[in-house]
Amino acid sequence: MDIRCITADNGAGDNDLGQWDGGGLVVGLFSEGDHPLRRQLATLLGDDLDALLERRRFRAKPGECLLLERIGANPATVVLVGLGNPDHFDGAALRAAAAKGVKTANRAGARRIGLAMPVQGLEARAAASAMAEAARLGLYHDQRFRSEAEPESQPEELALLGLDATASAGLAEVEPICAGVELARQLVASPPNVATPAGLAEIAAGLARDFDLELQLLERADCEALGMGAYLGVAQGSDLPPKFIHLIYRPATGSSRRVALVGKGLTFDSGGYNLKVAGSQIEMMKYDMGGSAAVLGAMRAIGQLRPPGVEVHAIVASCENMISGNAIHPGDVLTASNGKTIEVNNTDAEGRLTLADALVYACKLEPDAIVDLATLTGACVIALGEEIAGLWSVSDNLAAGLESAAKAGGEALWRMPLRDSYKVGLKSHLADLKNTGPRPGGSITAALFLRDFVTADLPWAHLDIAGTVWCDKGRGDCPPGATGFGVRTLVGWIQAGAPA
Ligand code: BES
Ligand code: MN
Ligand code: ZN
Repeated sequence: MDIRCITADNGAGDNDLGQWDGGGLVVGLFSEGDHPLRRQLATLLGDDLDALLERRRFRAKPGECLLLERIGANPATVVLVGLGNPDHFDGAALRAAAAKGVKTANRAGARRIGLAMPVQGLEARAAASAMAEAARLGLYHDQRFRSEAEPESQPEELALLGLDATASAGLAEVEPICAGVELARQLVASPPNVATPAGLAEIAAGLARDFDLELQLLERADCEALGMGAYLGVAQGSDLPPKFIHLIYRPATGSSRRVALVGKGLTFDSGGYNLKVAGSQIEMMKYDMGGSAAVLGAMRAIGQLRPPGVEVHAIVASCENMISGNAIHPGDVLTASNGKTIEVNNTDAEGRLTLADALVYACKLEPDAIVDLATLTGACVIALGEEIAGLWSVSDNLAAGLESAAKAGGEALWRMPLRDSYKVGLKSHLADLKNTGPRPGGSITAALFLRDFVTADLPWAHLDIAGTVWCDKGRGDCPPGATGFGVRTLVGWIQAGAPA
């Protein structure tokens, strides 16, 4: 799909809708107030627009969509999408409406689609990028695991109508970013017999080859030599060998900043001997590598965008959490690569064990900032639901940088506390600490556990994406299934110079 802007001042006159002859037209309408787009639409469709909307009971509420098929006219397909009250309008509403409208027009057979949205209150460039991303990602359809793909067609062209001349500046970045999100969605959706630790390592090798990145792949013996007892403890119950992935982007002109992105990469989490019970979604635990998918997706985008000045390290301690005669017992004591001993009072709190060694490894690179992403706790899902990821950080600056990148990328974060007094929940009578605290505040003690494996004062942030990695019903610009959450936040933060 070719995406471009048709600006209002390039001779099209003041009626942007009237100039568009591409066959498909999507127009966003507010539920209240008068907007120039509404008048242009009335001109296009005839002055009885109000009567038409009344007849079809179209109130322009968010999520509402009206398809008008106009035989013999051009545009033959007109889709109206509701934007609700203009006072509540924001980037997320714009993305959701753009995705829905374009999807509806595509399904109706439009191949060249003009998209006109009021973008008041938003910067034209950001709005154009948001619409383009949403349109593309909303059309994403994963058919890799069907024996016979359903026939489907994609639009040839998407034209963003009526924006000013600055709007198209970010459009070249849309393709790399969306390809990164799509890679993350594919990895998360891949079943656990496909996205294995070796499978992830192969994907990383492919990225290194295709996007001129450097790959260091550590095998079990390499990790043993580094003393990664926590990570290898989790991996030891599986017949599949662990793969520790370290992928590096180095900008051509040198860098002033170095950042590490660490992703939880459990390709399947059975819970181990603290086996997941009925209702704990064991059959969905293929998505427990969502953090690593976000990190690899971001690396794909970064490898293509090649932002200057920032060196990026992606780190994934990938393995499965399984049961066998060789698996860890509940109660085992493991020693992590920083020498800390951990009493494993629950084998289902395995993600933090793998992350402990991944974070120690990341710290040794002496980065200016570390961001980890992990489907870490059910408690975070209970706290924040499926739309918002939890954010913990020792650095206000880093937290603010991530929050603003997330907002611009249409992803929601909510800052959570690293409350020191909750550390007592991880006190062990035997080892330096336990891996599991009490149920209350479970996502907070998980973050506090991770903090023990990060160099003091190093700007570090942890995103718990357990709720946001998957969406059964679909939402905004995401069809049902894997969301690719985190890619846009990471890429946006790095493109902003990785403030920390
Ligand atoms: N991968 C799970 C967390 C999870 C749960 C992700 C539900 C997505 C949806 C993690 O490894 C886990 O099992 N966490 C336990 C921790 C507990 C034992 C302290 C949990 O949240 O129940
Ligand atoms: Mn678990
Ligand atoms: Zn897990």
